[in-house]
Amino acid sequence: MKRHLSIVVNGEPRDLFVEPRTLLVQVLRDHLGLKGTRQGCDSSSCAACTVIVEGMAVKSCSILAMQVNGKQIMTIEGLAEESKLHPIQQAFIDNWAFQCGYCTSGQIMSAKALLDENPDPTREEIQTAMDGHLCRCTGYNMINEAVRDAAKRLQARKAGKEA
Ligand code: FES
Ligand code: FES
Repeated sequence: MKRHLSIVVNGEPRDLFVEPRTLLVQVLRDHLGLKGTRQGCDSSSCAACTVIVEGMAVKSCSILAMQVNGKQIMTIEGLAEESKLHPIQQAFIDNWAFQCGYCTSGQIMSAKALLDENPDPTREEIQTAMDGHLCRCTGYNMINEAVRDAAKRLQARKAGKEA
Protein backbone atom coordinates (compact mmCIF):
# COMPACT_ATOMS: atom_id res chain seq x y z
CA MET A 1 0.00 0.00 0.00
CA LYS A 2 1.29 3.43 -0.92
CA ARG A 3 2.42 5.79 1.83
CA HIS A 4 2.22 9.54 2.03
CA LEU A 5 5.63 11.17 1.59
CA SER A 6 6.10 14.81 2.40
CA ILE A 7 9.52 16.31 1.62
CA VAL A 8 11.02 19.67 0.75
CA VAL A 9 13.13 19.46 -2.39
CA ASN A 10 15.26 22.44 -3.36
CA GLY A 11 13.12 24.61 -1.11
CA GLU A 12 9.82 23.45 -2.57
CA PRO A 13 7.38 21.31 -0.51
CA ARG A 14 6.47 18.11 -2.37
CA ASP A 15 3.73 15.67 -1.38
CA LEU A 16 3.31 12.32 -3.06
CA PHE A 17 2.30 8.71 -2.50
CA VAL A 18 4.94 6.02 -2.90
CA GLU A 19 5.37 2.30 -2.31
CA PRO A 20 7.30 1.67 0.95
CA ARG A 21 10.18 0.08 -1.01
CA THR A 22 10.67 3.14 -3.26
CA LEU A 23 14.20 4.52 -3.14
CA LEU A 24 14.92 8.22 -2.81
CA VAL A 25 16.68 8.22 -6.20
CA GLN A 26 13.49 6.87 -7.79
CA VAL A 27 11.37 9.58 -6.20
CA LEU A 28 13.74 12.29 -7.39
CA ARG A 29 14.18 11.02 -10.94
CA ASP A 30 10.94 9.21 -11.74
CA HIS A 31 8.34 10.98 -9.62
CA LEU A 32 9.73 14.52 -9.58
CA GLY A 33 11.61 14.48 -12.90
CA LEU A 34 14.87 15.68 -11.35
CA LYS A 35 17.12 13.77 -13.74
CA GLY A 36 20.27 15.61 -12.68
CA THR A 37 20.64 12.99 -9.93
CA ARG A 38 22.24 10.04 -11.72
CA GLN A 39 22.04 6.34 -11.04
CA GLY A 40 25.36 4.82 -12.04
CA CYS A 41 25.23 1.37 -10.43
CA ASP A 42 22.93 -0.98 -8.60
CA SER A 43 25.32 -1.81 -5.80
CA SER A 44 25.73 1.44 -3.88
CA SER A 45 29.30 1.74 -5.10
CA CYS A 46 29.61 4.77 -7.42
CA ALA A 47 28.08 7.74 -5.50
CA ALA A 48 26.75 9.27 -8.73
CA CYS A 49 23.36 9.49 -7.01
CA THR A 50 24.56 11.71 -4.14
CA VAL A 51 22.20 14.42 -2.90
CA ILE A 52 22.16 16.48 0.29
CA VAL A 53 19.70 15.50 3.02
CA GLU A 54 19.56 17.92 5.96
CA GLY A 55 23.11 19.10 5.18
CA MET A 56 24.63 15.66 4.73
CA ALA A 57 25.77 14.05 1.48
CA VAL A 58 23.74 10.87 1.03
CA LYS A 59 23.64 8.22 -1.69
CA SER A 60 20.03 8.46 -2.80
CA CYS A 61 20.07 4.88 -4.13
CA SER A 62 20.87 3.58 -0.66
CA ILE A 63 18.01 5.09 1.25
CA LEU A 64 14.28 4.53 1.15
CA ALA A 65 12.20 7.56 0.32
CA MET A 66 10.16 7.08 3.51
CA GLN A 67 13.38 7.41 5.55
CA VAL A 68 13.60 11.05 4.49
CA ASN A 69 9.94 11.83 5.17
CA GLY A 70 9.66 15.39 6.50
CA LYS A 71 13.24 16.28 5.57
CA GLN A 72 14.94 18.91 3.40
CA ILE A 73 16.67 17.61 0.29
CA MET A 74 18.90 19.42 -2.16
CA THR A 75 19.70 18.13 -5.62
CA ILE A 76 21.95 19.57 -8.32
CA GLU A 77 18.91 21.42 -9.72
CA GLY A 78 18.75 23.47 -6.52
CA LEU A 79 22.30 24.75 -6.76
CA ALA A 80 22.34 27.39 -9.49
CA GLU A 81 21.32 30.85 -8.35
CA GLU A 82 18.76 32.31 -10.78
CA SER A 83 20.49 32.09 -14.17
CA LYS A 84 24.01 31.93 -12.71
CA LEU A 85 25.88 28.73 -12.01
CA HIS A 86 26.87 28.09 -8.41
CA PRO A 87 30.61 28.75 -7.77
CA ILE A 88 31.20 25.01 -7.32
CA GLN A 89 29.66 24.28 -10.72
CA GLN A 90 31.75 27.04 -12.30
CA ALA A 91 34.92 25.76 -10.63
CA PHE A 92 34.31 22.27 -12.05
CA ILE A 93 34.01 23.78 -15.53
CA ASP A 94 37.05 26.05 -15.20
CA ASN A 95 39.25 23.25 -13.81
CA TRP A 96 38.27 20.67 -16.46
CA ALA A 97 36.94 18.46 -13.67
CA PHE A 98 34.61 16.39 -15.84
CA GLN A 99 34.38 14.81 -19.24
CA CYS A 100 31.18 12.81 -19.81
CA GLY A 101 29.67 14.44 -16.71
CA TYR A 102 27.82 11.34 -15.54
CA CYS A 103 29.38 11.40 -12.07
CA THR A 104 29.54 15.18 -11.81
CA SER A 105 26.27 16.06 -10.11
CA GLY A 106 27.04 13.60 -7.31
CA GLN A 107 30.60 14.94 -6.98
CA ILE A 108 29.33 18.51 -6.80
CA MET A 109 26.74 17.70 -4.14
CA SER A 110 29.41 16.05 -1.95
CA ALA A 111 31.64 19.09 -2.50
CA LYS A 112 28.78 21.38 -1.46
CA ALA A 113 28.13 19.41 1.74
CA LEU A 114 31.86 19.50 2.53
CA LEU A 115 32.31 23.23 1.89
CA ASP A 116 29.20 24.14 3.88
CA GLU A 117 30.75 22.31 6.83
CA ASN A 118 34.41 23.12 6.21
CA PRO A 119 34.94 26.23 4.05
CA ASP A 120 38.72 25.78 3.74
CA PRO A 121 39.47 22.07 3.44
CA THR A 122 42.92 20.66 2.80
CA ARG A 123 43.64 18.46 -0.18
CA GLU A 124 43.46 15.42 2.14
CA GLU A 125 40.14 16.49 3.63
CA ILE A 126 38.68 16.86 0.14
CA GLN A 127 40.03 13.43 -0.76
CA THR A 128 38.35 11.92 2.29
CA ALA A 129 35.03 13.69 1.65
CA MET A 130 35.01 12.65 -2.00
CA ASP A 131 36.11 9.10 -1.30
CA GLY A 132 33.76 6.61 -2.93
CA HIS A 133 32.90 8.78 -5.93
CA LEU A 134 33.84 6.83 -9.02
CA CYS A 135 34.79 8.68 -12.17
CA ARG A 136 35.79 6.67 -15.19
CA CYS A 137 37.04 9.52 -17.34
CA THR A 138 38.46 12.48 -15.40
CA GLY A 139 41.57 12.64 -13.23
CA TYR A 140 40.74 12.76 -9.54
CA ASN A 141 43.42 15.46 -9.18
CA MET A 142 41.40 17.81 -11.33
CA ILE A 143 38.30 17.16 -9.24
CA ASN A 144 40.28 17.89 -6.07
CA GLU A 145 41.62 21.11 -7.65
CA ALA A 146 38.09 22.14 -8.61
CA VAL A 147 36.87 21.73 -5.03
CA ARG A 148 39.81 23.75 -3.69
CA ASP A 149 39.13 26.44 -6.28
CA ALA A 150 35.43 26.42 -5.34
CA ALA A 151 36.40 26.94 -1.70
CA LYS A 152 38.41 30.04 -2.67
CA ARG A 153 35.54 31.38 -4.79
CA LEU A 154 33.04 30.90 -1.97
CA GLN A 155 35.36 32.58 0.52
CA ALA A 156 35.86 35.52 -1.86
CA ARG A 157 32.14 35.79 -2.33
CA LYS A 158 31.58 35.78 1.42
CA ALA A 159 34.16 38.55 1.77
CA GLY A 160 32.26 40.55 -0.85
CA LYS A 161 34.80 40.03 -3.65
CA GLU A 162 33.36 37.96 -6.48
CA ALA A 163 36.02 35.46 -7.63
S1 FES B 1 23.82 4.86 -8.06
FE1 FES B 1 25.80 4.10 -7.58
S2 FES B 1 25.96 4.50 -5.45
FE2 FES B 1 23.99 5.21 -5.96
S1 FES C 1 33.19 12.67 -15.84
FE1 FES C 1 32.71 10.78 -16.82
S2 FES C 1 32.40 9.42 -15.16
FE2 FES C 1 33.13 11.20 -14.23
